[in-house]
Amino acid sequence: MAATPIILDCDPGIDDAIAILLALASPEVELLAITTVVGNTSLANATQNALNVLAWAGREDIPVAAGESVAIGPPNDIPWNDAIGVHGETGLDGAELPRAASAIVDEHAVDLIARTVLARPGEITLVATGPLTNVALLLERHPDVAPALRDLVIMGGSLAGGNMSEYAEFNIWCDATAAAQVLDAGLEPVVVGLDVTRQATLSEADVHALEELPVLGPGIHGMLLFYLQKHREWHGKNAVQQHDSLALSWVIDPTLLVLRPLALGVDASDGPARGETYVSDQPAAAVTVRWAIDLHAARFRELLLERLAALAAAR
Ligand code: BDR
Ligand code: CA
Repeated sequence: MAATPIILDCDPGIDDAIAILLALASPEVELLAITTVVGNTSLANATQNALNVLAWAGREDIPVAAGESVAIGPPNDIPWNDAIGVHGETGLDGAELPRAASAIVDEHAVDLIARTVLARPGEITLVATGPLTNVALLLERHPDVAPALRDLVIMGGSLAGGNMSEYAEFNIWCDATAAAQVLDAGLEPVVVGLDVTRQATLSEADVHALEELPVLGPGIHGMLLFYLQKHREWHGKNAVQQHDSLALSWVIDPTLLVLRPLALGVDASDGPARGETYVSDQPAAAVTVRWAIDLHAARFRELLLERLAALAAAR
């Protein structure tokens, strides 16, 4: 079967970096470009991290374009400093990646996505693993892109409590206005929220075993160990959640997730429920998303570990 061409819009971020590696390692997908957005770290850090991960994996040929450094809001100030405790000062703490010699392309993220998608109508899947600021701007600036996308996959939201606030998941909370615009755009995206990503974990033993991989092992181990320590501090659990690579894995193998069409709302206020995602209680509410209600966690873990090992062996 032909590989599905994808563009990854992300904010690397440790689990975003693992998603990039999973994409590079998977013959079922062809990573056409990476676009970056503020979220887990500043836009400058996220963009440099994307370049560094690609160079480290030997794929400087994949273009990287920078997107938005502030949320559509309000408020517009994505507090990426808050995420330092999760992903570290650089956004990829724990890994000492060499600085890439490559540079970003001279095009805004949303213009690169639009140009690429419109050149291959109906073929390209956009996978968004950061705040939805770039995606909202894409839909506004380039209205012809929505019908030309093959699919939109989003890591974000929760129906079972948040990780940024009691109610809200981080990506949606960061730019709830953008998220509401994207979810209401009629695209019926696949939305992979905390309900399932919290169960997509690697154990401490998995993280240590990854250190043995050639070339990429020490970096993967270092960043995941940093992330694991943060998970221990929050939940007291020796397991590290792989939010973004689970979302990406739907493109690799859609049977890893169980989806249910539903009408998902977003609280786009700036009140205490900002960023909360909920199922609309209107009887006639139109379906807006394909929501991930369940996953095959063991198969996902096997896939991720096997693909990281294959990528490292090929370096
Ligand atoms: C999401 O927030 C970020 O910290 C992760 O990269 C992931 O995309 C999980 O809530
Ligand atoms: Ca992310």
